[in-house]
Amino acid sequence: MTTPSNKKRVLSGMRSTGKLHLGNYVGALENWVRMQNQYDCFFFIADWHALTTDYADTSRVKENSVDVLLDWLAAGLDPERCVMFIQSHVPAHAELHLLLSMITPLGWLERVPTYKEQKENIKEKDLGTYGFLGYPVLQSADILIYKADVVPVGEDQVAHVELTREIARRFNGFYSGKRGEVFPEPQSLLTPTPKLPGTDGRKMSKSYGNAIMLSDPEPVVRQKLKTMVTDPARIRRTDPGNPDLCPVGDLHKIFSSGETMAKVNEGCRSAGIGCIECKGWAADALVQVLNPMQERRQKYADNPRLAWDILEAGSSRARDVAGATMNEVRDAMSISLDYEPPKGPTK
Ligand code: TRP
Ligand code: SF4
Repeated sequence: MTTPSNKKRVLSGMRSTGKLHLGNYVGALENWVRMQNQYDCFFFIADWHALTTDYADTSRVKENSVDVLLDWLAAGLDPERCVMFIQSHVPAHAELHLLLSMITPLGWLERVPTYKEQKENIKEKDLGTYGFLGYPVLQSADILIYKADVVPVGEDQVAHVELTREIARRFNGFYSGKRGEVFPEPQSLLTPTPKLPGTDGRKMSKSYGNAIMLSDPEPVVRQKLKTMVTDPARIRRTDPGNPDLCPVGDLHKIFSSGETMAKVNEGCRSAGIGCIECKGWAADALVQVLNPMQERRQKYADNPRLAWDILEAGSSRARDVAGATMNEVRDAMSISLDYEPPKGPTK
């Protein structure tokens, strides 16, 4: 990725929380893989953002970042078509975060919905920290430093992009660059997220222990499907069921062909098929998505250095782009690194 282009710039990130699951794929990653063909894409692993909540034990930060990257590569993000990098390897994000923190009113941050929610819900960690409050300022820096036009995110992140727009506006109001406004206002692109249940029927989530991982080998996927809950009304094989009330039915809707879906609908409602058979078809559909990922992953799993090198090359490219923006920012704020002699008559 060296050619500058007139394509719109896309930027998005994921916190480095380790191996990804199918929910991460259908909610976000699948969309990114498509976007890399149409946009100038920057995707990064937000390891500093992971530290805002996981600061006490940092032993897995690096391993988690590599796990995320392996899943990205497995899912089809291609280093030839997008820039993949790691946040902490582009220190300019921290500099911009600091400068933006100067102009961000506390009230804006205290009002962010995720802040209030997470502080109330996560009781096992002390989130009464400066860093956690500043989470969306760091995210704003991530976005603005690349002058992103489009930020694909899930619903929970839209408020953060909105705050980014407000911070950009405030910055542009205070300071202006040589060529006018420094920051364009980014648009969020809401990623449509189909309802993807985990094996227990609740939303798929790593913390619920109900997830199907992108790295699960075929036998594991099939085993997990076997234990998946079904329509509770279908107790005996002879009881008719309803795929609209069954988590396995939800999987079929996302992954199965129209033909299979028709068989499921007919067979379930008439008790013509058993749940075991139906789950087998769902597993077939999942394996069809996951197997090509396993193949792509293999190349890197055998040699994680290769993956790390991709991250390094991407980070280097990101540092260039971020560095150019920071020059403009410092200029606009009159704190440029160049020494300029004071103006006025020389004696
Ligand atoms: N906060 C995002 C999340 O939890 C991750 C993230 C960090 C991000 N920086 C970003 C997403 C910048 C988009 C743009 O999912
Ligand atoms: Fe669910 Fe399939 Fe069983 Fe119907 S047949 S209840 S859709 S698993």
